[in-house]
Amino acid sequence: MSLKEKITPIDKYINEALYNKKSGYYMKANPFGKKGDYITAPNISILFSEIIAIWIVLFWKELKSPSKFNLVELGSGNGEMILQICKTLEKFPFIQKSCSISIFEKSSYLKKIQKKKLKKYKIRWLNHLTDLPNFPTIFIANEFFDALPIKQFIKKKNKWYERNIKYSKSSKAKILDLLTTVKKLETKVGFKISSGQKFIEFSPLSLKYLKYISKSIKLNNGGLLIIDYGYLDKQMKNTLKSISKHKFNDVLENFGKSDISHDLNFKLIEKIVNMLGLKVNGITSQKYFLEKLGILERAELISKDVPFSEKANIYFRLKKLIDINEMGHLFKVMFVTKKNMNFKTGFQN
Ligand SMILES: C[S@@+](CC[C@H](N)C(=O)[O-])C[C@H]1O[C@@H](n2cnc3c(N)ncnc32)[C@H](O)[C@@H]1O
Repeated sequence: MSLKEKITPIDKYINEALYNKKSGYYMKANPFGKKGDYITAPNISILFSEIIAIWIVLFWKELKSPSKFNLVELGSGNGEMILQICKTLEKFPFIQKSCSISIFEKSSYLKKIQKKKLKKYKIRWLNHLTDLPNFPTIFIANEFFDALPIKQFIKKKNKWYERNIKYSKSSKAKILDLLTTVKKLETKVGFKISSGQKFIEFSPLSLKYLKYISKSIKLNNGGLLIIDYGYLDKQMKNTLKSISKHKFNDVLENFGKSDISHDLNFKLIEKIVNMLGLKVNGITSQKYFLEKLGILERAELISKDVPFSEKANIYFRLKKLIDINEMGHLFKVMFVTKKNMNFKTGFQN
């Protein structure tokens, strides 16, 4: 990218930093794990993906066991979650036979890693989210939506400003709030997103994908399972963050060298999916969801006849997933379906 001085809205800045074909963060290296910049639940413990697989089996049953259905993972990272899901589904041959698995991934670098890791399995890589046969579709998104670029708007003295970034090769990037009107944004979103807000964080790309997904679910049935960082307040806030080598750093530094993400405002997602004619069937913490689906029992079972050190490792990793001071409460699980669906497994007693 040419780094002459540029002034650009935050979403475009994030897009360049993360997904520029040559220099983008996700386009040139594997960010996951101890040696990388951060770690995601599937890379902490296989128990996480096994539980997601069990939930898929149960939801498939609720869908009346269709003889053909699509399972789509959005943003597969290093492919670890879908690998473990494939392995678990091998234990359910009838479902495995009915299931057509697809990955929707933007990074060509990560796609290569995924293809290598998953070569044993029949998987399609989608160029476009609509490239799916008309079967019931289960969309799974672990830490996908938080990686999509967002726009930010701030209200000062009753006027709205869009947050821009001014950057060049030679000087440190700066935030620049430029006067704007939220009317255009509200027409695009379809409702008064600014109502009662002093700060707005909104991802146009998330809206685009939610539109495709809603269309598919309304037409063919199925659902969308989102697992992500996020909060439940109506009031939006600035949650943009940058992580490198497992530490937070300044979003304005390390362009292309660190991950940039945000926390999801689940109330906003609910508003969007309602507007698109779907409903939130359930929302809960990662802890509640995993425990309801039996992660503790599964940990006990797999650690029965293993040496103490291995047992300790299993429980150490499990704690990271469910402890309320770690991912247990920070991460939420949201399940979106058609309005007439009533499948509460993992969300209610
Ligand atoms: C934070 S990582 C999560 C990876 C994986 N789900 C996990 O839990 O380990 C985000 C993933 O989404 C992918 N991604 C980001 N934007 C995308 C887009 N617009 N379309 C498809 N994939 C995208 C990234 O390349 C990466 O694989």
